[in-house]
Amino acid sequence: MSVEKLQITLSEFKKAKPDVDHLEFGTQFTDHMFVMDYSSETGWHDARIVPYQPITLDPACMVFHYGQTVFEGLKAYLTADGEVLLFRPEKNMARLNQSNERLCIPPVNEEFVIYALKRLIQIDREWIPAKEEMSLYIRPFVISTEPYLGVAPSKHFKLIIIMSPVGSYYKSGVNPVKILVENDYVRAVAGGTGTAKTGGNYAASLKAQEVAAAKGYSQVLWLDGIEKNYIEEVGSMNIFFIIDGEAVTPALNGSILEGVTRNSVIQLLKHWDIPVSERRISIKEIFELHEEGKVTEAFGTGTAAVISPVGELNWKDKTIVLNGGKTGEISQKLYTTITGIQKGSLPDVLEWTQ
Ligand code: COI
Repeated sequence: MSVEKLQITLSEFKKAKPDVDHLEFGTQFTDHMFVMDYSSETGWHDARIVPYQPITLDPACMVFHYGQTVFEGLKAYLTADGEVLLFRPEKNMARLNQSNERLCIPPVNEEFVIYALKRLIQIDREWIPAKEEMSLYIRPFVISTEPYLGVAPSKHFKLIIIMSPVGSYYKSGVNPVKILVENDYVRAVAGGTGTAKTGGNYAASLKAQEVAAAKGYSQVLWLDGIEKNYIEEVGSMNIFFIIDGEAVTPALNGSILEGVTRNSVIQLLKHWDIPVSERRISIKEIFELHEEGKVTEAFGTGTAAVISPVGELNWKDKTIVLNGGKTGEISQKLYTTITGIQKGSLPDVLEWTQ
């Protein structure tokens, strides 16, 4: 699709900007959004930037019934010099198409969507909060819009991009969280949709999250769906352990989402000459190695929170405390470095921003 085909309609009104000192994740949205339609006859078409507005959909639209939908999450930052930086958008667009493929959604032109996103950000640039640790969270998503109750791939879709100014994902900032190892519910199995960023995975995770929250835990640690033995993810993030000086993260096994932050953490650790191992790792092993004093840190990685240290892990009524319940040295260094690169305050050594 050629870039000339992007239509732009500017809003006549500008909404009041939120108070940046009281930003709540994903609650306020900018003045404009990007929309593009798909039909099986014409392909992706009618790409446009329009004022942010509700959308009207037929109640029979397939997305409401069978959940044929995917989404992405990425961020734009304002540097101290007033430059706008996007963090690895090409990774998110590539993953959007991988998710599309799994959900029988036609692929989008990745370069064009990045171009349109950059135009959208330019238009709503005043919405990017300047303060440290703040950014513009970008949510591209695709929904199936054919009004039809048959179980089949939709012939019509919409790709929409909305944007929301955000502060720290957790109200209390980077602080170690208490995690409950989930023994009943599972997130995904190989061959399922765990590697795709699709709404159903998140809907399916809510019950376990609710049970864990009632017991005083922030998130659950997901184990594999077959043996309930091997570690997969934490909440909606990937997980890392520091074991005997080596960073260990579950290998991508067909049920784990390939996080952009996971990939960035691996690259950065290697850049620092910290050994990284992507392998199968059991919860039993973690508890045993912890007993031997070898597990010094654990942390989740994701776009929203960036690095989320694990302070405590509870499994079958046994609790281990990591790094005295405090943020570990490597977790902190990763957080400071990645957010510094994103904000343009540290050198972009691995050429991630654009
Ligand atoms: C992330 O960690 O970036 C996520 O995927 C969480 C998001 C669904 C809010």
